[in-house]
Amino acid sequence: MGACLAPRRTEPLGEVEWASYSHAVDVEQVQDAYTSVADLYIELVGTKQQVHPADLAFIGRHLSIRPGRVLDVGCGPGHITDYLRSLGVDAMGIDIVPEFIAHAEAAHPDGRYELGSMKNLRVENNSLVGVLTWFSLIHLPPEELDGVLAELRRVMSPGSPLVAGFFEWDELAAFDHKVITAYRWPVDEFSERLASAGFVEVEREHRNADGTGRPYAAIAAVMGDAPRTRS
Ligand SMILES: C[S@@+](CC[C@H](N)C(=O)[O-])C[C@H]1O[C@@H](n2cnc3c(N)ncnc32)[C@H](O)[C@@H]1O
Repeated sequence: MGACLAPRRTEPLGEVEWASYSHAVDVEQVQDAYTSVADLYIELVGTKQQVHPADLAFIGRHLSIRPGRVLDVGCGPGHITDYLRSLGVDAMGIDIVPEFIAHAEAAHPDGRYELGSMKNLRVENNSLVGVLTWFSLIHLPPEELDGVLAELRRVMSPGSPLVAGFFEWDELAAFDHKVITAYRWPVDEFSERLASAGFVEVEREHRNADGTGRPYAAIAAVMGDAPRTRS
């Protein structure tokens, strides 16, 4: 198990101030890291058969409800985007790694995939009816999560579902993910961040709670009318 660092909390204002993790990574580092292992990543996890059937069911159940475009943000090899398309969803994938986008276009020629970052989506306001962030928020330093959720909110229409998969842990902590530094979250804390950004949790599932693998969770949340005002 890799190094785990807990966030530093400052109490006076009751606010949480995230310490800079000594090994926090930026987008370019994440892009470089995935680029260097892209072929292996595609081989190990790049088909829908390699995704837990219950995860596919969870994703499909929440993201195939409304007609319109769904964005798979950080789609990697594009296999889950393609799964959504197989359900009749107008799904499109974006990722920062050119090798993943090239693979996705070759493997799923009917699909639509584009290079792009979740931090600055080339998508019009209120134009999406759903967003999937399947393990793509995991490398974000915690202090950057709110900004990305606000960007997702900008492009989604009210009432749209957001489905997120992420590693869970008792406390928010960085760890040495096989590709590059990632964070694992207490599920309630992640849900709280979603709520602050205006997404109301509607369902969650836990996997590997029995210790058979790294525990992770899936949350489905629906975009409410307005972000919650912080008290
Ligand atoms: C753990 S992989 C998950 C890939 C895919 N969702 C899956 O389930 O296999 C994380 C993905 O997020 C992408 N990613 C990380 N930061 C990103 C950003 N700022 N914008 C778009 N994609 C990003 C990475 O390139 C990588 O493909």
